Amino acid sequence: MKRLGLGILGSGKGSNCRAILESIRTGTLSAEARVVLSDVLDAPILEIAREFAIPNAYFPPGQFRTRLEPNAEAELVQMLRDAEVDLVVLAGFMRVLKSPILEAFPRRIINIHPSLLPKFPGLEAWKQALDAGETVTGCTVHYVDEKIDHGDLIAQREVPILPNDSAESLHARIQIAEHELYPAVIEKLCRENDRVR
Ligand code: GRF
Repeated sequence: MKRLGLGILGSGKGSNCRAILESIRTGTLSAEARVVLSDVLDAPILEIAREFAIPNAYFPPGQFRTRLEPNAEAELVQMLRDAEVDLVVLAGFMRVLKSPILEAFPRRIINIHPSLLPKFPGLEAWKQALDAGETVTGCTVHYVDEKIDHGDLIAQREVPILPNDSAESLHARIQIAEHELYPAVIEKLCRENDRVR
């Protein structure tokens, strides 16, 4: 079985990246992490990639705050192609992707979001759920399209909101669920991909 090549993109802490790389190391995820890329020079996610000896790089995003400059996005596509990436995995990547990369990897870009989408897209989704008085929230893995935290849903995991939850305690509990869900979903996509080859 040829292993699916992952390209992981992130802007921050990288705890989901770590969960994915650990699942590969222990053999519960039969993919291959080919590259980890970040739009933030000193992002901890790059340090995690180095810890696991995965090729990694910073790419300059250009002058915009919430998206990539077109030539930066073209450069990113080239880096992913050079690394022979089959599936692009967003793990805390804080920019909206546009057509160059969406067209280069059709239905081959996934994201994880800390709410039960379509509820609470956008920033601090756990806080939005808490403020709305919900009793259950969770996390969602979905295909990426041009809109923020939008696109066909792949899988969700519910997380209860407890009476004494603070934003921090709830976020921590959601992250535990994310770290189980994301590698499991990627493994499922690997198996499906294997079947159609
Ligand atoms: C996660 O909560 C994910 O749902 C959201 O960004 C966060 C990234 O966390 N898209 P980390 O960098 O993986 O720790």
